[in-house]
Amino acid sequence: MSWSSEQYSKFEHERNRPIRDLLFNIPITKVNYAADIGCGPGNSTELLRAKFPNARITGMDSSENMIEAARKRMPDVHFEVDDISSWRDPGPYDVILANAALQWVSDHQTLFPALISKLAKGGCLAVQMPDNFDEPAHRLMRETAAKGPWATKLNQTSKRMTREGAEWYYRSLRDKVATLDIWRTVYHHPLQSGPAAIVEWFKGTGLRPFIDPLDDAERKAFLAQYEEGTAKEYPQYADGSVLLPFPRLFIVATI
Ligand SMILES: C[S@@+](CC[C@H](N)C(=O)[O-])C[C@H]1O[C@@H](n2cnc3c(N)ncnc32)[C@H](O)[C@@H]1O
Repeated sequence: MSWSSEQYSKFEHERNRPIRDLLFNIPITKVNYAADIGCGPGNSTELLRAKFPNARITGMDSSENMIEAARKRMPDVHFEVDDISSWRDPGPYDVILANAALQWVSDHQTLFPALISKLAKGGCLAVQMPDNFDEPAHRLMRETAAKGPWATKLNQTSKRMTREGAEWYYRSLRDKVATLDIWRTVYHHPLQSGPAAIVEWFKGTGLRPFIDPLDDAERKAFLAQYEEGTAKEYPQYADGSVLLPFPRLFIVATI
């Protein structure tokens, strides 16, 4: 799947809010080594450094486009292209931050213990993932995929995007860590320019696995159909804005 730092960064102000909330709830203060995995264009890395200015920070992402943007943004930080699911770096890290990244990586039963094993004693794994699979914006992606002439091309896409709930993480992790803090927040983002803004938002993230496999004509038709659906689900206010409710799941574990 391809990523565009430019498209993703269009809503940076809104996307940064959960990062701040996640960082605020990291319960440790002495941090020498920190990693930002799935760092994207470096927006989360920048906030991580603001929180722990004396830490040596590594940023990692599987997208070359994202790493290039991150390096431009923070030339003095070490960024590398790597895959979270096969990340060999043994650490140990005082903080591993994974904001809006692990929902793209499968097998959390194996992944979370692997990340926890890279923490130093007293270290912290701080994770935030969108919990919006049942929101209209995501349901409409699956419905649009199933209805159009692209249905066969996209029939695996919807199946791959499964998510676990808070209770699953509690059950899977509580025996492996010293403290475990899990919470869910629904953000309500006012977006200008109506339902088109919702399409723009998800073109940077959740829509990509649906539109990447399509040719130009199909992509245009898919997005038009998707926008028609969003217009019904997210009514536009008189000033042109729409309100996008966005639930997110937070997990902060220390060992
Ligand atoms: C939604 S962006 C999050 C960017 C940033 N961390 C933030 O908080 O805004 C998700 C990032 O995860 C990266 N990603 C997805 N799967 C990955 C994997 N298996 N290994 C490393 N990075 C991955 C993508 O390239 C993308 O940059």
